Amino acid sequence: MIPVNEPALGHAELARVTEAVRAGHVSSGGPEVLEFEEHWAAYCGRRHGVAVTNGTAALELAVACLDLDPGDEIIMPTFTIISCALAATNRSAIPRLVDADSRTWCMDANLVGDAIGPRTRAVMLVHVYGHPVNIDPVLELAERHGLAVIEDAAQAHGAEYQSNRNGATAWRRCGSFGAMSCFSFYANKLVTTGEGGMLVTDDAALAQRARLLRNLAFEGDRRFRHEHLGFNFRMSNLQAALGIAQVARMDEIVAKKRTIATAYTQGLRDVAGITLPVEEPWARSVYWMYGLVVGSETGLDAEALAKRLSDLGVETRPFFLGLHEQPVFRRRGWFINEKFPVAERLARQGLYLPSGLGLRTGQIEQVIDAVRRCLT
Ligand SMILES: Cc1ncc(COP(=O)(O)O)c(C=O)c1O
Repeated sequence: MIPVNEPALGHAELARVTEAVRAGHVSSGGPEVLEFEEHWAAYCGRRHGVAVTNGTAALELAVACLDLDPGDEIIMPTFTIISCALAATNRSAIPRLVDADSRTWCMDANLVGDAIGPRTRAVMLVHVYGHPVNIDPVLELAERHGLAVIEDAAQAHGAEYQSNRNGATAWRRCGSFGAMSCFSFYANKLVTTGEGGMLVTDDAALAQRARLLRNLAFEGDRRFRHEHLGFNFRMSNLQAALGIAQVARMDEIVAKKRTIATAYTQGLRDVAGITLPVEEPWARSVYWMYGLVVGSETGLDAEALAKRLSDLGVETRPFFLGLHEQPVFRRRGWFINEKFPVAERLARQGLYLPSGLGLRTGQIEQVIDAVRRCLT
């Protein structure tokens, strides 16, 4: 079976982790976490990085830094992982959902304005499967309505967006937009620390607050005396050591992802009945996972295609099931009468192919061959 993800770690990672072990830097206090924070924030074009245990924690920490009141709303795409919703619900805030764009599969920026209400306080930009959201229109709305912007760039390490604001055009990396940006370094991400995440920001006060809340809100001269309710979201130096080695290889990592995507696109673009990922002119995708949407005219849905591919030795993953279709929210009576037709179609017809950094050319050819056999 060709796995949907296989990480590619090498000598540099081994050397950095070994060094940390030798130096006894195993827990969170020590130089590796600081170095990783500095390097990753700099790579993203941010001033500050706060490393945490995972991407879900980074999102929750970002929302905690906003000091919302219970019942405040955060706009987010329905087509995303539950972590985004949890960051809201764990802080007593409510997700307000927006449908996906049928081309990029990210939140449709044209629909965000309609979701803004009197309790809206923030908006979450989630870059899906490596392709950036159309960020500028959302930033403009957020400025006009005084909303905080949190970027979820878990799947978009190194992706770029061409921003055209205030008369200036500039390509900027995902992770550099809004008040705070969040990353996951789970094993299937471009940079992995096994488990891990980071919040990056340009705002020194937000960074300080995030650091305080990350570490049980220890502060002041008297240890074990607390003014705030925090979390234990600390990353260890062993994890950070793994990350440091990969930040240095980011150009190579992004190039490999783009090479995999180019090979898939070349091998599949003439197959009728499937839609392949796009790259908008204002975007440079990192194709975190190479997705495809199978047309219903083929008589297949994603589940049936996944079964056929599995029989041919190819592992896949289904696309997200929209937040509005999650039983846990439906049981609360949330989103009951809301329709998000694009996300609903993607959830039923979309899946992604093996896309890990460890994928070899021969395996890509096998996957292409298998998809072609399933559909022609
Ligand atoms: C878009 C997005 N946000 C957040 C997360 C959560 O990251 P983690 O699994 O590290 O908690 C993920 C994980 O895959 C993700 O894809």
